[in-house]
Amino acid sequence: MHVAVLLFAFALTGTTLALDNGLMRTPPMGWLAWERYRCDIDCENDPKNCISENLFMDMADRLAEDGWKELGYVYVNIDDCWSSKQRDDQGRLQPDPKRFPGGIKKLAHYLHNRGLKLGIYGDMGKLTCMAYPGTPLDKIELDAQTFADWEVDMLKYDGCYSNAMEQELGYPLMSKALNATGRPIGYSCSWPAYQGGLPPKVNYTQLGEICNLWRNYGDIQDSWDSVLNIVDWFFENQDALTPAAGPGRWNDPDMGEHRPCPVPSPLNRPCSGPEHS
Ligand SMILES: *[C@@H]1O[C@H](CO)[C@@H](O)[C@H](O)[C@H]1NC(C)=O
Ligand SMILES: *[C@@H]1O[C@H](CO)[C@@H](O)[C@H](O)[C@H]1NC(C)=O
Repeated sequence: MHVAVLLFAFALTGTTLALDNGLMRTPPMGWLAWERYRCDIDCENDPKNCISENLFMDMADRLAEDGWKELGYVYVNIDDCWSSKQRDDQGRLQPDPKRFPGGIKKLAHYLHNRGLKLGIYGDMGKLTCMAYPGTPLDKIELDAQTFADWEVDMLKYDGCYSNAMEQELGYPLMSKALNATGRPIGYSCSWPAYQGGLPPKVNYTQLGEICNLWRNYGDIQDSWDSVLNIVDWFFENQDALTPAAGPGRWNDPDMGEHRPCPVPSPLNRPCSGPEHS
């Protein structure tokens, strides 16, 4: 099995306030579908790897049964391509009916019964990065309530197809809307990744007040070069990034990658590439 784990930057506690939802006092850890499974929606030909409730239940079983949960890996996170291309007749987001026949709430219960938490994905634009329905300004309250009704525990709010002005309004508005549902929902903002990741464009003080974590920089890809590139960027910019982090508010360098090697691998060569999945 391929396991991708979220990796978060540890940093000393700064001085600013954190989003007051009581969550993520330590860096959240778990599993996110994107790096490996992307937007594979072909469940007919690729049932094991397609974005479906089975994939997330399978990963939940792995976290719960293989010792990951005990180490703190409790989030199982859906990324893009989970939803139907159409909202329902009341204007709400709905999961793809073929791939998530049980619905998101049932999936959340499956995780909760195993001591795990469910994360879902939305986007600040009219469309998500892969052109599924987004959550633009006028849909924020409705979609926050829908996620709360489904008993979701975390939201990754991406930024494709939105402009700087919409982001400036939308990211704080979603924070308020999640709070207003009354359900503590961890809030991951992709905002800084769309602003180049650094001050003065990025206001890390503000981010810490409205988000629990944020993607600072580009997506990780399935290569060691990509891992090193991200490590280098965090190293070079640590003076700006370190003070931003603390309990309840974290830099997110994107997923870590862990691959069990099928055959003994030379020590100086990390296991990598799809042949090891
Ligand atoms: C909402 O915000 C208030 C004040 O910041 C906080 O006390 C409360 O716990 C928050 N509720 C949720 C569900 O996040
Ligand atoms: C950054 O955000 C904080 C908190 O919202 C605010 O007080 C401050 O003025 C902002 N800084 C800049 C440079 O806009």
